[in-house]
Amino acid sequence: MLAKTFFNRHPGTWKMLIVAMCMALLGCLQAQEPQGHVSIILLGATGDLAKKYLWQGLFQLYLDEAGKGHSFSFHGAALTAPKQGQELMAKALESLSCPKDMAPSHCAERKDQFLQLSQYRQLKTTEDYQALSKDIEGQIQHRGLREAGRIFYFSVPPFAYADIARNINSSCRPGPGAWLRVVLEKPFGHDYLSAQQLATELRSFFQEEEMYRVDHYLGKQAVAQILPFRDQNRKVLDSLWNRHHVERVEIVVKERVDAAGRTSFYEEYGVIRDILQNHLTEILTLVAMELPHNVSNVEAVLQHKLQVFQALRGLQKGSAVVGQYQTYSEQVRRELQKPDSFHSLTPTFAGILVHIDNLRWEGVPFILMSGKALDERVGYVRILFKNRAYCIQSEKHWVTAQSQCLPRQIVFHIGHGDLGSPAMLVSRNLFRPSLPPESWMEMEDQPELRLFGRPLSDYYAYSPVRERDAYSILLSHIFHCRKDSFITTENLLASWVFWTPVLDSLAREVPRLYPGGAENGHLLDFEFSGGQLSFSQQQLEQLLPGPGSAPVPSDFQVLRAKYRDSPLISAWPEELISKLADDIEATAVRAVRRFGKFHLALSGGSSPVALFQQLAMGHYGFPWAHTHLWLVDERCVPLSDPESNFQGLQAHLLQHIRVPYYNIHPMPVHLHQRLCAEEDQGTQIYASEISALVTNSSFDLVLLGMGTDGHTASLFPQSPAGLDGEQPVVLTKSPSRPHLRMSLSLPLINRAKKVAVLVMGRVKREITLLVSRVGHEPKKWPISGVLPSSGQLVWYMDYEAFLG
Ligand code: BG6
Repeated sequence: MLAKTFFNRHPGTWKMLIVAMCMALLGCLQAQEPQGHVSIILLGATGDLAKKYLWQGLFQLYLDEAGKGHSFSFHGAALTAPKQGQELMAKALESLSCPKDMAPSHCAERKDQFLQLSQYRQLKTTEDYQALSKDIEGQIQHRGLREAGRIFYFSVPPFAYADIARNINSSCRPGPGAWLRVVLEKPFGHDYLSAQQLATELRSFFQEEEMYRVDHYLGKQAVAQILPFRDQNRKVLDSLWNRHHVERVEIVVKERVDAAGRTSFYEEYGVIRDILQNHLTEILTLVAMELPHNVSNVEAVLQHKLQVFQALRGLQKGSAVVGQYQTYSEQVRRELQKPDSFHSLTPTFAGILVHIDNLRWEGVPFILMSGKALDERVGYVRILFKNRAYCIQSEKHWVTAQSQCLPRQIVFHIGHGDLGSPAMLVSRNLFRPSLPPESWMEMEDQPELRLFGRPLSDYYAYSPVRERDAYSILLSHIFHCRKDSFITTENLLASWVFWTPVLDSLAREVPRLYPGGAENGHLLDFEFSGGQLSFSQQQLEQLLPGPGSAPVPSDFQVLRAKYRDSPLISAWPEELISKLADDIEATAVRAVRRFGKFHLALSGGSSPVALFQQLAMGHYGFPWAHTHLWLVDERCVPLSDPESNFQGLQAHLLQHIRVPYYNIHPMPVHLHQRLCAEEDQGTQIYASEISALVTNSSFDLVLLGMGTDGHTASLFPQSPAGLDGEQPVVLTKSPSRPHLRMSLSLPLINRAKKVAVLVMGRVKREITLLVSRVGHEPKKWPISGVLPSSGQLVWYMDYEAFLG
């Protein structure tokens, strides 16, 4: 929902993307010109990432590209003073290695050349940046070269970004005709707002096409193979890659290591921000996106990725399970000097259930999982297909390549695990895949090895001809201007729009503690049902003292009492919603049995969302085919607007159930291309529709809410319309935006056979108390005018609304 809002509010996104892509293309064309000199400045040249991957990646780039027309210089930079920095950098460069097939003498020679081209410099002040730029220009002039461009690799913490960016922009841009590329490492913010702030800041220094945000998983060979694989096997996959055939998708990164030594980072981010929001989400988009006709078309790939975000169903707290390895809090206390009483709530393990609401993926669970201190290090994407066959012969007669009864799966094996390398696996009973033979070769069988429940021989299995590190692949893509392997600003923000609400809702959740490694046993196993994830094992004892042991819904009975002389049902939110959903279904079943149909009028807003979801996911016996759905009120916005009540109904209920379309009755707020114009007589049209279809205009059930000002439906204290009189449907004015509304009137509501009022949350406490004491005063509190003339009124209030 939030993701949709984002795109609807940013219609210029596509245009910006196209302009950015064109400019990037121009930069790339320039990059291909011969004889250009490229300066690569590695900021944070003595840090961990640089030591582990970046220098090696730069060396590989040099090996691959020098001699093809470009000349290079490499500038390692950091805040450290020159002499000490030089020494540290020299250490980092000691361990450079050449590809296995390179002769040692040749390797030594190339290494030597590379070291000669690599200099350390301190970059601290604006003058340092100016001096760097001058030196680059001087060198180029001196050697009679032309400048092709400069790459600045930010391998520094994000708090340093703004200063560096400002200095580059003001003092280190190359001259006209040469390009600038800045490479940024995550974290790109902490949530949607901070990511947006950082993006805005960076945009004030750099053009979109100049920025390369790295997600190193996009450089992993098996991940980079997802789109080409889908493309090269398009013919077979076209019919298989959808909800009719895919049982589930698992996207997994398990780690053995824990967070020791980096808790100052980890404590702020946790596993969801560290791995799921970026690496696993990127992979998800590659698996789920519609395949562009031409997968080399960068712009099309990026657009299709963005469309996946639009279709993601919003995550609830119940879409996640979180855990924390037992020694984590102690590590945090030690490393961050916290008091003994400190207990962290940061998850180091998370399983998330994602649903994609589009025609291709509706109903297919995408499971995203990652954790530290688990039993093994492995990463994979597994697409498990449905098995509809029934095999007559006993299993011993099944032939691997033919039996439809064996599991059918495609695995993009990212690395590690029992296989120990990246690989592509396709079950032999599925199809023989086509892979580029120059980069992927068939693996030899390893008879002992079982993967995902089957021996390796059950799969067509391929491994890379030459294993390459993700960073060396990405550096090559940066050099060749392949922007599809990087995160655009739109992509980044769309991802945060998706993740921020669930991160917020998990912020106070106490994670399940796990011992770590093989001892975890089945403690972290989880399962899903009805759109929710939960741990499979009940936890007997929670070792981590949470912030007070909050009562859980099952600790309480549903409370029955009276409110304004009508029955009141009160419970914790989950139980309340479940009771209301049961009551609605029972009413529906009775109505259909007696009259053949059920007329239900629903309110919008946030309170009924959980109810809609409950009805959509957990009520298979509901007689939807005989149910007519009406709106109690509507905002005067187009029906497709995220603010529209109908849109909420569509997102949380309609798209998941099977109601005949002619039984759905949105309010006609948008007629003749205008909104709620009196002359269009929308209110009369709706009233006629009701009177034509609903006997005596008496709904079987009307669901209402109660606002903090005592309003109900769209009948407000300040707006007299609809409180009495003859008009069944009225236009009204709300004090909050969008002001203009359409609503059923009180007299029409009071004709209903049953009216249910749902009131939830502490914010409603005051009005609940007030309304309990007032008489019939609809002008002041429209809710007090709800009194069905011959029907029944029932109040459904959660404990917070009722008891505070
Ligand atoms: C990084 C995370 O992005 O990815 C680390 O910050 C994690 O916490 C790492 O360990 C995993 O990457 P790889 O390449 O080792 O699988």
